[in-house]
Order: sequence, then structure tokens, then C-alpha cells
Amino acid sequence: MNLILLGPPGSGKGTQAKRIEQIYGAAQLATGDMLRAEIASGSALGQRVKGIMAAGGLVSDDIIIALIRGRIGGSAGADGFILDGFPRTVAQAEALDRMLAGNHAALDAVIELEVDEAALIDRLSGRFSCQNCGASYHQRTHPTRVEGVCDDCGSTELICRPDDRPEAVRTRFEVYHGQTAPILPFYRRQGILQSVDGMADIDEVTRQIRALLDRIHTAS
Ligand code: AP5
Repeated sequence: MNLILLGPPGSGKGTQAKRIEQIYGAAQLATGDMLRAEIASGSALGQRVKGIMAAGGLVSDDIIIALIRGRIGGSAGADGFILDGFPRTVAQAEALDRMLAGNHAALDAVIELEVDEAALIDRLSGRFSCQNCGASYHQRTHPTRVEGVCDDCGSTELICRPDDRPEAVRTRFEVYHGQTAPILPFYRRQGILQSVDGMADIDEVTRQIRALLDRIHTAS
């Protein structure tokens, strides 16, 4: 199963991608996580993108396309992939189509998480995540079971992202509307765009995505 999860910052792409990965075995490919790993490792690429990400801007298409090409061509796995945070521009979407055609592969679905922007500000301002395994939490709506300890891996390295500061969040929303939302008609024309209610609680959003994917699976 090859899938894209699409939606504005904080819409729940990462949360749902991890759940879908566990249910269907498809590999989560999250460009934001890949870039944050580059920053944490101190690599030259990490140094180049650190300031751009902290300010909420987009990393250049060339860098991102090279990053994702290696994963899709290589370790995506027999059960496919879930793209989380890619594509983010029409140029990236077009490059993805070319990569898939070159691998004799195709997308099964592009799922848009529909959300209310005011609620997203609340989600991002309360978000923290595990530096070790990437699990994502929220101080009020999705805390860890034991305070200060990751539910998934037991790490105590829980951090807030620099781009969750209010100024950076504003820029990320502007970028989403200006550069990422134009991808929606691109996939609507291909007949593979589906939407789910991203305002529902986390379990309900997973249930909606599963219902969609099971329908697609049954039809194919
Ligand atoms: P990236 O890491 O992809 O960030 P993003 O798209 O802004 O999305 P987020 O990770 O903030 O949110 P999410 O939708 O995954 O929501 P989450 O599940 O965490 O990218 C970061 C940066 O990297 C970009 O700004 C850019 O600089 C660069 N970059 C990455 N990809 C790029 C590309 N392709 N091209 C160029 N640059 C790129 O949930 C958020 C919070 O809400 C959590 O606390 C969670 O617990 C909670 N939550 C989730 N779902 C629900 C729910 N249903 N109800 C209540 N709370 C919920």
C-alpha cells in the first residue's frame, strides 16, 4: 500500500502515519523526521536546513527530492510506504510521480486530514515528542502515561520543537496555504484524493482512515 497523508501543520499526519504503519506494515517516510535527524547528527545537510526549519520555511525541492528518492527506491519495504510531510509543493508531487513510474509503482490514495486552523494552534502549542523514537504527545489531550517517560520506548528525552513557537507556526500555515494546498487539485484530478475529519479524536481518525484503506484494498 502506497499512501500520502496530507494536511496542515499539526493536522495529525505523524500520529496517524505511525498507527497506519503498525496496522498495515507500510513504512512511514516522514521528511520532517529525516531532516530533524540530520540536524541532530550535526551533518552538513542538517546545518544547512536548521535555520530554515526553525523559522517555519520550506527546505528546497532539490534537497527534499534527493532525500525521498533514496528511501522510495530502497528501503520502503514490500508493504509499501506512508508519506508524511512529502510532497509539499507541486514540483515535489510531479517528481514523486516520475519516481513511482520509474519503479513501476503507483499511489493507492492521498488522504487529506481536514482540520480547523484555530484548533491546530492549540495542538502545536501543547505538543512535545520523544527525541529517541519520535512518538508525539500533547500536554492536555495526549499526555504520556507516566509523566516525563515516553510510552513507546521508555526514553525520558521529551522535547518541544523550535518551529512550534507562535511566529514559526504562523509562517508554516502561510507556507501550507501558498505552496502545499495547491497539491490538492493535482491529486483530485488523478482521482485518488480522499478526505477524513481530522478534528475527530485520534482513535476515530484512525478508524476513518482504516475504513478508507480497507475499501480501496477490497476494490483492488
Ligand atoms: P514536519 O515535521 O512534516 O511538520 P508539519 O507538516 O508542520 O507537521 P507536524 O509534524 O507539525 O504535524 P503533524 O501533522 O504530523 O501532526 P502530529 O501528528 O505531530 O516538517 C517540519 C519542517 O521540515 C517543515 O516546516 C519544513 O521546514 C521541513 N520539511 C519537511 N518536509 C518538507 C518537504 N517535503 N519540503 C520542504 N520542507 C520540508 O500532531 C500534532 C499534535 O496534535 C500532537 O501533539 C498530537 O498528539 C496531537 N494530535 C494529533 N491528532 C490529534 C487529534 N485527532 N485530536 C487531538 N490532538 C491530536
